[in-house]
Amino acid sequence: MCGIVGYIGNQQAYPILIKGLERLEYRGYDSAGIALINDNDKLDIYKTQGKVSKLVDFCRDKDVSATIGIAHTRWATHGEPSDINAHPHVDANARIAIVHNGTIENYAILKQALIDHGCTFSSETDTEVLAQLIGYIKATNHCSLQDAVIEALNQVVGAYAIAVIDIDCPDTIIAARKSSPLVIGINPDETIIASDAGPIVEHTSKVVYLNDGEIAVARRNQPLQLIDISTAKPAKIDIKTLQLSLAQLEKGGYPHFMLKEIFEQPSTIHDCIRGRIVNGRVELSGVNLNADVFKNARRVIFVACGTSWHACLIGKRLLQELARIEAQVEYASEFRYSNPVIAPGDIVIAVSQSGETADTLAAIQLAKERGAFVYGICNVVGSSIARATQSGTYIHVGPEIGVASTKAFTGQVTVLAMLALALGQLRATIDETHAKKMTEAIVALPKLIEDTLRINDDVERLSSTFTYAHNFLYLGRGYNYPTALEGALKLKEISYIHAEGYPAAEMKHGPIALIDREMPTVFVAPADETLQKIVSNIQQVKARGGSVIAIVTRGDETVSELADYTIEIPRIVEELSPVIASIPLQLLAYHVAIKKGCDVDMPRNLAKSVTVE
Ligand code: AGP
Repeated sequence: MCGIVGYIGNQQAYPILIKGLERLEYRGYDSAGIALINDNDKLDIYKTQGKVSKLVDFCRDKDVSATIGIAHTRWATHGEPSDINAHPHVDANARIAIVHNGTIENYAILKQALIDHGCTFSSETDTEVLAQLIGYIKATNHCSLQDAVIEALNQVVGAYAIAVIDIDCPDTIIAARKSSPLVIGINPDETIIASDAGPIVEHTSKVVYLNDGEIAVARRNQPLQLIDISTAKPAKIDIKTLQLSLAQLEKGGYPHFMLKEIFEQPSTIHDCIRGRIVNGRVELSGVNLNADVFKNARRVIFVACGTSWHACLIGKRLLQELARIEAQVEYASEFRYSNPVIAPGDIVIAVSQSGETADTLAAIQLAKERGAFVYGICNVVGSSIARATQSGTYIHVGPEIGVASTKAFTGQVTVLAMLALALGQLRATIDETHAKKMTEAIVALPKLIEDTLRINDDVERLSSTFTYAHNFLYLGRGYNYPTALEGALKLKEISYIHAEGYPAAEMKHGPIALIDREMPTVFVAPADETLQKIVSNIQQVKARGGSVIAIVTRGDETVSELADYTIEIPRIVEELSPVIASIPLQLLAYHVAIKKGCDVDMPRNLAKSVTVE
């Protein structure tokens, strides 16, 4: 997944584009580039492998005075990270430049057709094919840039968010999207185009979310135009007001976005709950507006990826326990190709922090085609998944910049707990006492998280002990089997230490063969009905010389006697324990990764949102 930015207006484009790339760098950072049309109608392309800071160094002695430009930070899909594969890419005459986020699935066919017409290519990317196709159509048909872009995109199969500039029309930027996000910020005398609101927020709060199959034409000092690609007719412009502040996008004094976001969780969970528990009852508008659908629901199918998939495993248990609804959890990437059986009364719930994950979007599309009611649980307002689902609930934890998801996970679990409670109330499957205990526990979450975060220094000290490890096991039971999976994912994705999560009882079915002095095992072992079983699992590990780190409820004396290291968390109802137990695991992963010198906010090979297959 990549980040694109475009600017046209009366200010110098370069600083706005670079700042915009820095805001989007969490989306991909293996190379970066910029294209500027300078006053002498020259198209300057500056691009380099490496992060945005490398591009800034490269541009130090360049002419960057232009007031129109486009820029890109890349997460490679076609063609390795290199200077030549970096965006922007140009047409055969180097007069048109394009930046692109997405994948063009039929690029090989289009490329061969262009080669057959005498075109030559310098890069391995699918994006250069699109640039050359636009240039070829414009030259052959003697048409405008706008018409050439429309014709080219009608030939493309795949996902794209693009920005295009052309020396022949130096006062115009053209943008378009299909299955990849694009937001347009508008001011009377300037337009900023970006993959998300980050590069826009300090310039304007007025935005237009481009829809699939639309192109935007931004001309200097003229109102924005939207055109429907399939009809070439004007499309309706729906101006929204951004719900994002600059402060939310900055690190706020923390060394990394990830640590900031871990410590934000008391306030983000407060925001997540706000207005949704009224007089002891859960009120979710998405549920209330579709009460009959949920009342008559036969089955829920969760579709998600990564951390969001872990949250769904907890959601499944919560729905079954509190609302007595049968639930299953599918990887979105598997669901979309599994020819699923969807029957009347099935509800598909898509969970996604970014709201842009390609596999999850595709799963939603399939579920809708098969007749399911599709509900979304997202963080990014106005995201593609939020707009593709029939209804939903935002988690409202604010922008999550760190690639490793933390506050979004606890927000997702909290919303899923409220959803399960709301459905339990609606279907009368939960008694008043249990419901009251649960709602009180949810309301108490921000304070309990605050309390839990006090262990940070202890975890930081403990992390020094384990930087040697090459493998970790994370084990848990019940609600905390998914917590173990989540802890393992956190560690592996930012410290590059291999880590596996398992149901603790699965130990004896294979993983116990791995146990030795070199393999630390983390047990998620809060006080709940599975605790005694966990104790015997810990004994099995200790008997084989393994070192044990245990997350335990404050005051525990059983596990603490056995474990080599214990991290205490406050007592909480079992159904919500993953919200609290995941926090020491977030901190453990963070501190181990820091001690290993890893880039925790932008870990290698990863991107914050995977908008490609
Ligand atoms: C989690 O730390 C990872 N960044 C990744 O697994 C992520 O959860 C996954 O890509 C799903 O993203 P989404 O929630 O935005 O759909």
